[in-house]
Amino acid sequence: MSRESQDWQPDRYQQHAGFVAVLGTPVLDLLAPQPGERILDLGCGDGVLTEKLVAAGCQVIGVDAGPDMIAAARARGLDARVVDGHALAFSNEFDAVFSNAALHWMTRPAEVVAGVHRALRPGGRFVAEFGGHGNVAAIRTALIAVLARHGVDGAALSPWYFPTPDEYGAVLREAGFAVHSAELIPRPTPLPTDVGGWMDTFADSFFAAVPAQDRASLRAEVVDLLRSVLCDSEGRWTADYVRLRFSASRSA
Ligand code: BEZ
Repeated sequence: MSRESQDWQPDRYQQHAGFVAVLGTPVLDLLAPQPGERILDLGCGDGVLTEKLVAAGCQVIGVDAGPDMIAAARARGLDARVVDGHALAFSNEFDAVFSNAALHWMTRPAEVVAGVHRALRPGGRFVAEFGGHGNVAAIRTALIAVLARHGVDGAALSPWYFPTPDEYGAVLREAGFAVHSAELIPRPTPLPTDVGGWMDTFADSFFAAVPAQDRASLRAEVVDLLRSVLCDSEGRWTADYVRLRFSASRSA
């Protein structure tokens, strides 16, 4: 399952993942948007950060594979379009491409990066943050372990791409980018509910292969397995996020 087929419900997303945009400030700072710049927000979701780029005086187009998210972004008055990030059809028209918390859903990175390269003017910037190597490792491992107990290969169902800086840097250079920085940033992230709420929002695909009547008990097993690792003595849950943040520019 990809980001396109994940069931993105903007209300649920806002409840369980409102922190995604709040924590996007460092990558916005790295982008350093200038008034008048034309910017493509790749994987714009419900448009919270797209709105900040518009407020900075930029002309912004937001794209996302999820129609519900695009509807929510349009409701903010944004120019937002349903587009698969693997098939960007823009040509030579943006000063920068920005992306927060989306590239890990795009599992064919060479296609994505080639489209970003085409979309940018020569010298244009590609600045992004997404899940890097080791991201949500405990959650992923627990999902795979619980599914294995029930005879399902959870690793094969994982919809996520979490590369190292070296791996993603190689993809960028191969496409014609100069890479200015690329780093992994561990960022333990407090969750608004238990990890079950996070899984309902982001991990549908792991449960899709399980008969509907078994899903609730498997979900409870994963939550129980993770309790001692991700939940503190006060009942507060923290997800083991690791970000990959990079800045690159189109060489020519
Ligand atoms: C992330 O932002 O790192 C992320 C979100 C959903 C699923 C996996 C990772």
